[in-house]
Amino acid sequence: MSKVLITGGLGYIGSHTVVELYENGYETVIIDNLYNSRIDVLDKLEKITKKKISFYKGDVRDKDLLRKIFSEEEISGVIHFAGLKAVGESCEIPIEYYDNNIGSTIALIEVMKEFNVKRIVFSSSATVYGKCKVVPLKEDSPLDATNPYGRTKLFIEGILKDLYESDKTWEIGILRYFNPVGAHKSGLIGERPNGTPNNLVPYIAEVAAGIRPHVRVFGNDYDTKDGTGVRDYIHVVDLAYGHVLALKKLDEAHGLLIYNLGTGTGYSVLDVIKAFEKASNIKIPYEFYDRRPGDIATSYADPTKALKEIGFKAKYGIEEMMEDHWRFQKNLYIK
Ligand code: NAD
Ligand code: UD1
Repeated sequence: MSKVLITGGLGYIGSHTVVELYENGYETVIIDNLYNSRIDVLDKLEKITKKKISFYKGDVRDKDLLRKIFSEEEISGVIHFAGLKAVGESCEIPIEYYDNNIGSTIALIEVMKEFNVKRIVFSSSATVYGKCKVVPLKEDSPLDATNPYGRTKLFIEGILKDLYESDKTWEIGILRYFNPVGAHKSGLIGERPNGTPNNLVPYIAEVAAGIRPHVRVFGNDYDTKDGTGVRDYIHVVDLAYGHVLALKKLDEAHGLLIYNLGTGTGYSVLDVIKAFEKASNIKIPYEFYDRRPGDIATSYADPTKALKEIGFKAKYGIEEMMEDHWRFQKNLYIK
């Protein structure tokens, strides 16, 4: 049976996507250099899926390794998650971000072409909408990038569009994720932040675990219902299932397809804190701080196109996102 190559498959979103793919009759092969993940995720994946999963440890920029994988495995398509993703860090080490994110994509496309595998789904981000103030964000909203990380996503989208224009036999899915949170119901896989979490929900979880004294709420003077930033949080299992739908669509539709993967609902920072308190039954102290540079007031998806064209609709609400996130993270902190 042909397999889907998952780059970055031991990471947060990749690992959940591996599970959803097996549940929907696909097999996978994983390549990951373990830069931001751990090898024990592979055991957890095998436990959840009850399958032996082929794993190659290495860098996607290593074309010889890619050639080895494409020679040894029967690959029918690729989902490309591998990359660096921290906005702040991307301003400190931009060249590493360009090299890793863009370099890995180009190496991958070149080797896919050599082996005549022309189906790829790419992890883009709502970050490509930059500071766009008109919400909900639609796939044809204006694109912009405000930091090196965002620029890598925008450049890669451009590279994939140029590739498709030059050769219409490629089948390309560009998925723009909003804010993934939560974890698999088993509590075995989830997000493991390295150092101080940048993102809201992992930070709240560390406050809940007693590691940090309070949540720093960045800004309470935005033009939103309670003055705090509004985002479109989406359960990582819903997001992962979106990849299955995108692959199925590419099977029948071909072409270059771009979809937002969000719920269409925005929650404020205070809404999220409240939902987390309810899910964990732990009081979460918070204090207001200045706005975080580069943040926008409100971002949420118009999910209509993904619903209409691939039948994507998020199943899980904010409380389940928090419950599942906490189930995984409390196991890391509270023994
Ligand atoms: P993650 O860091 O958990 O997973 C990425 C994985 O790729 C890690 O396991 C890492 O070790 C691996 N990796 C990185 N560079 C590699 C390379 N050159 N070769 C091989 N492996 C490499 O991140 P994630 O949250 O799962 O994100 C996956 C993708 O989704 C990324 O491209 C990210 O930019 C994008 N994305 C993430 C979010 C988010 O909030 N998590 C939002 C929008 C888009
Ligand atoms: C971040 C990334 C963005 C990425 C998106 C989805 C940054 C600057 N941007 O954006 O590129 O596409 O995740 O993964 O990292 N907040 C607090 N206190 C905190 C952390 C966050 O109040 O400790 C607030 C923020 O101001 C924002 C909301 O919580 O209003 C969500 O923040 P975060 O989880 O970092 O996501 P994004 O800002 O959407």
